Amino acid sequence: MRELLPSPRSDVDLAEAYAVPVHVAGAPFVRCNMISTLDGAISLQGGSGSLGGPADRRVFRVLRSLTDVVLVGAGTVRAEGYGPAVLDDELRAQRVAEGSPPVPPIAVVTGSGNLDWSSGFFTQAEVRPIIFVPRAAYSGASANGRAVADVVSAGEARVDPRLVLDHFRRAGYRSVLLEGGPGLNADFIHAGLLDELCLTISPRLVAGAGPRVLAGPEFARPLEPEIVHLLEEEGFLFYRLALPRR
Ligand SMILES: NC(=O)c1ccc[n+]([C@@H]2O[C@H](COP(=O)([O-])OP(=O)(O)OC[C@H]3O[C@@H](n4cnc5c(N)ncnc54)[C@H](OP(=O)(O)O)[C@@H]3O)[C@@H](O)[C@H]2O)c1
Repeated sequence: MRELLPSPRSDVDLAEAYAVPVHVAGAPFVRCNMISTLDGAISLQGGSGSLGGPADRRVFRVLRSLTDVVLVGAGTVRAEGYGPAVLDDELRAQRVAEGSPPVPPIAVVTGSGNLDWSSGFFTQAEVRPIIFVPRAAYSGASANGRAVADVVSAGEARVDPRLVLDHFRRAGYRSVLLEGGPGLNADFIHAGLLDELCLTISPRLVAGAGPRVLAGPEFARPLEPEIVHLLEEEGFLFYRLALPRR
């Protein structure tokens, strides 16, 4: 992996390059990680697995290793067949040395509570998943899921990202890794709660009319994130982009 911006160099240490900024008191730091093709698609035939490569998978694992909690939308859990968080021995040991559990918990946002509670995502998780639901779905989700997950009511008609971050702050989490999908990303960015976008540009074209990194209404003006770094390996580009909190 080499760095193109801000200072060209080779042999980048990923853990150093993606170190979470020192925590400022208040809401946790929120980083989103996504992969997109050159033509802006984030999935092919419903999943993103075929868009990546070895370098992208390394970045994915390092970002997971650096976070206190992973957050993802239920559509992505279903589409990608999410399993429990898994990290290799070296990354697990680094987390434990820093006083964290060996893998981060995964939190899921759902409006329906329609999750496969008997899947390995729940039954094989080392750390109990956290499930955020709006008030109307709480009793059903709690009845179905409380044996395998912590079910949290966080909003009225929809899950409110601010209440999710409040919950994480109270739990002592200082950093959140948002892994999509585009609807949940949009909720966070429109609420001004996204600090960083880690965007892999995959040298692939897929055409079609699939979703993009962000859903939701257009901004009045383009956002202009600051480029913290741009890395490259085998034609894959890895942007680390900082967004101002609004
Ligand atoms: N390329 C990448 O990096 C990447 C990353 C992630 C996902 N993807 C792709 O994105 C696609 C999935 O897209 P998606 O739109 O289904 O994504 P999603 O945002 O993961 O899922 C949408 C679902 O999440 C729940 N949800 C999200 N925000 C909510 C809120 N504020 N309140 C209540 N529920 C909320 C709802 O679940 P319920 O339906 O349960 O109510 C909603 O239907 C898949 O094709 C996947 O492969 C790509």
